[in-house]
Amino acid sequence: MPTALVTGATAGLGKAFTRALAEQGYDLVLVARSERDLKEHADLLQTDHGIKTEILPADLTTDEGCAAVGARVAAEPVVDLLVNNAGIGHDKPFLETGIQAQERLLNLNVRSVLRLTDAALREMTRRRSGTIVNVASVAGLGPTWLSSTYPASKAWIISFTEALAASQEVRSAGVRMMALLPGYTKTEFHQRAGISTSFPPPWLWLEADDVVRTALRDLRRGKVLSIPSFRYKATAWGLRHFPRSLSCRFAWDVSKPGH
Ligand SMILES: NC(=O)c1ccc[n+]([C@@H]2O[C@H](COP(=O)([O-])OP(=O)(O)OC[C@H]3O[C@@H](n4cnc5c(N)ncnc54)[C@H](OP(=O)(O)O)[C@@H]3O)[C@@H](O)[C@H]2O)c1
Repeated sequence: MPTALVTGATAGLGKAFTRALAEQGYDLVLVARSERDLKEHADLLQTDHGIKTEILPADLTTDEGCAAVGARVAAEPVVDLLVNNAGIGHDKPFLETGIQAQERLLNLNVRSVLRLTDAALREMTRRRSGTIVNVASVAGLGPTWLSSTYPASKAWIISFTEALAASQEVRSAGVRMMALLPGYTKTEFHQRAGISTSFPPPWLWLEADDVVRTALRDLRRGKVLSIPSFRYKATAWGLRHFPRSLSCRFAWDVSKPGH
């Protein structure tokens, strides 16, 4: 049986990835901070799908957390699919958020993706097989969330994944990489960040299971960027083709009173 390691596996998109991959017969290594949530979810997956699960409690904002997960990525049984999914956002303007919280966001959204990709690619290129999915966001395609560092962190993931996926080093080894760019998705993300869910309107919200189903289909089709749903494909087109000044005028600005 192939093995997948999913970060942020106990809620939202990560949990949806584990359900979909368990259905496909993957054994799973589940990573998040809460050991209790990991155990509960791993037991459920084992009972429902008869797969093997391992839990790995780790805080991926820390060096120790990244090192522990990186060591598992390089160990046996081999990890065939790595899903770098864990990520956070903040609701406050840049200066109010504070540099420590900004660095925590960068450590999780960027640095942990860098470190785990490095650990996985070393093994996968040596074995000449393996797949990495990095969860970015449509927000990473432009100035979508003013006074926030979140879009920049996701822009990094998109650029990083595209650059590696197209490289000789990765392609000639038969390793696949894809960035997933979801739009607004019903998960715990907004509540955890203290972001109101009254915007956008209900028709713009995606279901986590639908996002993951599309992502896994796009992965089978060999795409490097996966943007689930026509609504967000259109948004992505606009963000890529409209002048930046226009995108800024319509962007959500967390530094505006009553945004
Ligand atoms: N929801 C959206 O609208 C949306 C849209 C675009 C992109 N995304 C991206 O999708 C990814 C998943 O988000 P989600 O919406 O599914 O979030 P979520 O529902 O808040 O789930 C976050 C998961 O990450 C884990 N996690 C949080 N901090 C962690 C840390 N320091 N170390 C290790 N694990 C940590 C959480 O478990 P513990 O708290 O136990 O650690 C949880 O399992 C993120 O990268 C996010 O940026 C989300």
